[in-house]
Amino acid sequence: MSHADPRLIVALDLPTTDAAWSLVESIGNTVSFYKIGLQLFPMGGMDLCRKIKATGKQVFLDFKLHDIPATVEKATRSITTGGADLLTIHAEPAVMQAAVAGREGSDLKLLGVTVMTCYDDAMLAEMGYAFGARDLVLRRVEQSLEAGVDGVVASAHEAREIRARFGKDLLIVTPGIRPTGADIGDQKRVATPASALSDGASHLVVGRPVNAAPNPKAAAQAIVDEIAAV
Ligand code: C5P
Repeated sequence: MSHADPRLIVALDLPTTDAAWSLVESIGNTVSFYKIGLQLFPMGGMDLCRKIKATGKQVFLDFKLHDIPATVEKATRSITTGGADLLTIHAEPAVMQAAVAGREGSDLKLLGVTVMTCYDDAMLAEMGYAFGARDLVLRRVEQSLEAGVDGVVASAHEAREIRARFGKDLLIVTPGIRPTGADIGDQKRVATPASALSDGASHLVVGRPVNAAPNPKAAAQAIVDEIAAV
């Protein structure tokens, strides 16, 4: 008998909603939280969200909203109709304040994307930022909390400092997770499920180690077992 751990979020990075739904069905009760991103959004991602929610599971919509405040507020309000549990937005104060207004009256929790992990200090300087990645991440976590957002997306390597500085209540959702011995693929800064949790992550996002595994249910179960041992 397997028991899902709500701290494990499996990314449905697949080309069609049929493929994603087959994965959800094959994993069954081992996973209770799924992430739908921009790949599935134009392919019926919101209907898939409703279908997964109807089974009692949780959904994280990783749409990384970024627009003028009026549009972010209206988009967030539209997104609340899908009943999702988590939504990402870029961690700029005006964007976050608009999303907080748009989710009013719903149970949707918001996560700020601080600095995308594809940017390093040199790229930020080229774009005109006065801060390097680490300082910008910390500044934006602070601004996220001021705006009333529930947490942030961060690498496991950032999680420890964020948790230490900003306390136990904010959500820290951590991608780039690889079970011991797994192929790291294109991720550069990876952590195991156990080390990410002990560094302060509240949730782990795992994609290919589960969605590309020969036996996704067994791969997810191995992660659930590793989490349970922390
Ligand atoms: O397959 P893998 O485990 O690398 O997938 C990680 C998931 O987390 C993907 O859906 C990816 O888009 C997302 N993600 C990430 N790094 C970030 C933010 C999101 O890998 N900084």
